[in-house]
Amino acid sequence: MTGQPASHESLPDGLTGLTVRGVEIIDALADLYGELHVVQVEAVGERLHAPARTVADAWAQRRETYRQWLEAGGFVVAAEGGDDIAAFAIVGITSGYAGWDVGAALGEVKDFVVGRAWRRRGVGRALLGVVASELADRGIAHWRLNVVVGNDDAVAFYRREGFDLTAVTLTGPPRTVMQRSPPGRTEARGSDG
Ligand SMILES: CC(C)(COP(=O)(O)OP(=O)(O)OC[C@H]1O[C@@H](n2cnc3c(N)ncnc32)[C@H](O)[C@@H]1OP(=O)(O)O)[C@@H](O)C(=O)NCCC(=O)NCCS
Repeated sequence: MTGQPASHESLPDGLTGLTVRGVEIIDALADLYGELHVVQVEAVGERLHAPARTVADAWAQRRETYRQWLEAGGFVVAAEGGDDIAAFAIVGITSGYAGWDVGAALGEVKDFVVGRAWRRRGVGRALLGVVASELADRGIAHWRLNVVVGNDDAVAFYRREGFDLTAVTLTGPPRTVMQRSPPGRTEARGSDG
């Protein structure tokens, strides 16, 4: 169903539909990814003990990762309004768990963002519904996602949509590391450097 309208029920006026897309849409996701990056950086604060990248630098990295996920069988669900993308979810396909029988494959919502102007109007709910349908069409019943700590709005949204908390990520304090530069010399880099 790639590229075909998946649903336009219950979308606010101005949005023409939700479509399942692939790598061809990546460049149109840059601005919305930027909005997500800003939300995540603000939510995490100092906890990662590392400087946040600029939106442009973050996108340059994320864009390549998006390409890899999509080429490995993932997909994007996009909410489209005219020439613009109002919201999107990017979903990767990963192996099922060893310890629980969820089937061979698991869906993982990697990034999910509704543009500021479209929030609290049911777009996120509709988008998530199409993600679930697309996974089901591919024989995948189970799915998961991560939310950075501090993004309480997103947690409230996912809980409202039926998600349960099943894992916690802890980030250790950064350690001083030795990095080679140039060949033959080493240089201390890290929290005190
Ligand atoms: C989180 C986000 C995806 C929600 O999308 P949305 O389109 O605004 O959500 P919906 O309008 O479909 O809301 C569905 C339900 O979720 C809940 N919800 C949504 N946003 C919420 C918020 N900010 N606070 C509390 N509950 C919220 C509501 O209960 C809502 O149902 P209701 O309107 O009937 O009460 C959107 O706010 C967003 O993109 N935020 C910035 C990026 C982000 O944090 N992405 C998630 C990264 S993991």
